[in-house]
Amino acid sequence: MGIAFESLYSDIAGRTGKLTVGKKTIKTPALLPVINPHLQLVTPKEIQSMGVEALITNAYVFSQSRQFRERALDEGLHKVLDFDGVIMTDSGSFQLSVYGQVSITNTETLFFQRDIGSDIWVPLDIPTSPDADRQTAEQELAITMHRLAEAREVFGKDAPLAGPVQGGIFNDLRERAGRQVTDLGFPFCPIGAVVPLMESYRYQDLVSVVMAVKRTLTPSACVHLFGAGHPSMFALATAMGCDLFDSAAYALSAKEGRYLTTHGSFKIDELADLPCACNVCRTHTAEELRIAPDRERLLALHNLYVTLAEISRIRQAIFDGTLWELVDERCRGHPQLLSGYRELLNRTISLEKSDRISKRRFFYRGDESCSRTEIFRYQQMLSRLQLGNSVLVAFDGGMRNEFNDTLFFKPPFGPYPKELKETFPIGQSEIPEWDDAMVRKGCRGIKILIESHPDSRFVVSCNPCWEAIVRQELGNIEVRNDQI
Ligand code: GUN
Ligand code: ZN
Repeated sequence: MGIAFESLYSDIAGRTGKLTVGKKTIKTPALLPVINPHLQLVTPKEIQSMGVEALITNAYVFSQSRQFRERALDEGLHKVLDFDGVIMTDSGSFQLSVYGQVSITNTETLFFQRDIGSDIWVPLDIPTSPDADRQTAEQELAITMHRLAEAREVFGKDAPLAGPVQGGIFNDLRERAGRQVTDLGFPFCPIGAVVPLMESYRYQDLVSVVMAVKRTLTPSACVHLFGAGHPSMFALATAMGCDLFDSAAYALSAKEGRYLTTHGSFKIDELADLPCACNVCRTHTAEELRIAPDRERLLALHNLYVTLAEISRIRQAIFDGTLWELVDERCRGHPQLLSGYRELLNRTISLEKSDRISKRRFFYRGDESCSRTEIFRYQQMLSRLQLGNSVLVAFDGGMRNEFNDTLFFKPPFGPYPKELKETFPIGQSEIPEWDDAMVRKGCRGIKILIESHPDSRFVVSCNPCWEAIVRQELGNIEVRNDQI
């Protein structure tokens, strides 16, 4: 029994890992499709055949269902849904956030989740609306925390309990909640009440909330982003350290005639072609899909394929160390995602701590790339270089004998000794034609070098076209024209 999480590869604050629940283990990051027993566009068995190892369903719906309640209690959830992977059950908190109340208590829903054989149980947390004032958020958080403590007390520390983290949009409350959930020993922590933020494209607030929780949550906890189902934001959320997503979006979008892609959704009525490699899209034209009698099901299948493919792409990116490139690509799909991405880039210093040492490559993708963790880490390392009395930083790569040391220059990283030419990140970074932003950033590296070596004299030799930037960044440093 119990829940255990082990991380394998990491990139930024994201990781691939293994979540073990009882005797079952699933790969993370993972997507848990949401199953509504009354409305199965795609059956759990079909979903399992697509490679899905875990799904989530709503225990409250089962508990209120004349059709399913007794069957679930008698036969168990896995039999009723015909799925032998991991099944997580939600408590009814979502109904609480929509309808304001539910006719079930915390311990009642947990006993029910246990009795129907759920693999992961969720207490009755209170999803605080982002509009709630501080006092309300604080009161609701206190109730949630009380219920989590009650759950641990009644069911013991080995029960497969999730510990949802609430706190509204107040970062200090989210930090407090993360700390308390950690202190209570929950190894599995969903971040709650983020659906309204995502529905209104408030990705900047989402980044702020998730990063606040991650600051205090133990890194060994498996983090589930509750209700996150649009594939365009998985890369961003993974980069912050979210391990699980649950998607009702695949089915809800299908009902509304929406076709998901990794860079946004389209109304099926507006599509002239189907830009996707999945089976549905390769065997139908846009017109055929539009008028198909089982259009909702076909759309749900496509949406699920796209969503699952994105999870695989993210796992591969983490393995390769190319998650920043993927986040950059995805976050250009919507201006609000770009805002979220920029908010993430503001947190380079804390992200650098969990980032890995070496990666397959670093592709420069414009100004945003200048804020990446690898540059911050490289430039911090520069202060440890041992240098003589006179140092030349040669933009053109040419040696001059009159100096004790000659360093070369690769923007956006900055100066480097020839011994680092083949090592990460200097050797594995691909940059286009130099631009102002990257040269300016590289000059910050020279600045760190100068400040950390007060006994050395520094000279920069560069093409005259960079002289103005060098002087702006480095003040009255000696600059030579490298064309002479
Ligand atoms: N589903 C989406 N958001 C939430 C949340 O905050 N809590 C629970 N229990 N379920 C959710
Ligand atoms: Zn498709």
